[in-house]
Amino acid sequence: MEIHFAPLQGYTDFEYRRIHARHCGGVQTYYSPFIRWEKGGIREKDIRDILPENNEGLHLVPQIICADTDEFNRLADAIQELGYGEMDLNMGCPAPMQTKLMRGSGILPHPTRVSALLKEMERRPEVRFSAKMRLGLEEKEEWRELSDMLNSSCLKHLTVHPRIGKQMYKGEVDMDAFKEVYSSIHIPIIYNGDVTSMEQVSSLSERYPGLHGIMMGRGLLARPTMAKECLMGKEMPHEERMSILMQMHEDMLGYCTRKYKVDSQILLHIHAFWEYQESQLERKTWKKIMKAGNMKNYLEAIRKL
Ligand SMILES: Cc1cc2nc3c(=O)[nH]c(=O)nc-3n(C[C@H](O)[C@H](O)[C@H](O)COP(=O)(O)O)c2cc1C
Repeated sequence: MEIHFAPLQGYTDFEYRRIHARHCGGVQTYYSPFIRWEKGGIREKDIRDILPENNEGLHLVPQIICADTDEFNRLADAIQELGYGEMDLNMGCPAPMQTKLMRGSGILPHPTRVSALLKEMERRPEVRFSAKMRLGLEEKEEWRELSDMLNSSCLKHLTVHPRIGKQMYKGEVDMDAFKEVYSSIHIPIIYNGDVTSMEQVSSLSERYPGLHGIMMGRGLLARPTMAKECLMGKEMPHEERMSILMQMHEDMLGYCTRKYKVDSQILLHIHAFWEYQESQLERKTWKKIMKAGNMKNYLEAIRKL
């Protein structure tokens, strides 16, 4: 069972991915946070994030978000120019800024748009395309309209996050709906959504033996060694996990200190590293880390780990 690291805008940028791959491993594929066409171009920050020299030693698939073939081709050209032969299409983002432009999960109620993008992919046979989608934007049945075109598409795999866009990240994942997608769509399927433990990984692979993989996001941010632990088939002792975490932190703090000159900026970025780790650390210590308003208090809080 392959474990893929979900793209998380603001969290899994290149430095985090590099540090994760260096210290933890276990992840077959990392995805960049989505890249969009905006104000006549691609943001420099987004290009920097996928530069091959910034992603050495890991398998990165750049992810794009677009509403039509024009945007698609501009993004695909720029990414291919960097030497990539793989791309993932975002059909899941629930952010209104994107959905109102018919991007992300906002494209799901528009089968003709999805169909046009899937057809356009065929004009680039040298690229392995994949996609990541929710069940729908407003309704959990929207995916049904797309199932035939997905089945006959050139997609190498489809990641399914069984929520609808308007739920954002709230409420339960709809496992009954996922079961239906799994049995109706015959390209390799990757499950995504709320996986936080090895038990869940085992139960998903037992329940869906044909599953191509599992994509984890927040669960891996919380416990970065989880993919490696799944690969080994056993949990790492607490001390070993903490030692890896501290090595990751040292690298991340070093990077933030080199990159940002002002303490407030360093803290903003290093707090993102800890944000999803509440469940893994002692609550009091986690709170101290997250509340530290200056470097002195921050380093003091870290020493308690
Ligand atoms: C802060 C944040 C940023 C995200 N950014 C992206 C993104 O750029 N592209 C994408 O496809 N999904 C994005 N997602 C969705 C995640 O990739 C994933 O589908 C979602 O978090 C559910 O998986 P999880 O429960 O394993 O985290 C984002 C989610 C969060 C919480």
